[in-house]
Amino acid sequence: MHLHKYEKIWLIFGIGSLILFLVVLGVGAFYKGTHPPSHLATIDPQNVQAHESFMDENLGLRQVGEDQYLVSVIASAFNYNLGTDEDGKAIRTVRIPVDSTVVFQVTTTDVIHGFQLAGTNVNMMVEPGYISSLETTFKKPGTYTLLCNEYCGTGHHIMAATVEVYQ
Ligand code: CUA
Repeated sequence: MHLHKYEKIWLIFGIGSLILFLVVLGVGAFYKGTHPPSHLATIDPQNVQAHESFMDENLGLRQVGEDQYLVSVIASAFNYNLGTDEDGKAIRTVRIPVDSTVVFQVTTTDVIHGFQLAGTNVNMMVEPGYISSLETTFKKPGTYTLLCNEYCGTGHHIMAATVEVYQ
């Protein structure tokens, strides 16, 4: 079979483009272990408190280092469980010093919930069976509303808590 010179060039160009495209796609999709956000860790949704991070005494805010904090949250319809205070009352507000690094780790015992801190880059979907986690640094003091942005039932709109970043 005889191919015209230009046909050859275009054929090579076409195949080359296709290979390049597939390589970009393949590398792009898996580079640095890219995955749906925060779906590395799994958990039994029926028994989240068997997980060290979600035991009663570890819920809410914990300081894990100088300027480093961990916030563990169990989401459920229609509440964010942030642990209890000394009086046994449910904590509704997490207070974090400005410029500290905070890792939020969140799981759910029932349906999919959202975990969004309005006005920040904290925005996660929380799915049963998974631990969603995200690290952030709060640069600006203020009071941020934690809200659920995934419709989860009749009480969806009341599902909220507060994060207070103080100077
Ligand atoms: Cu939880 Cu909407």
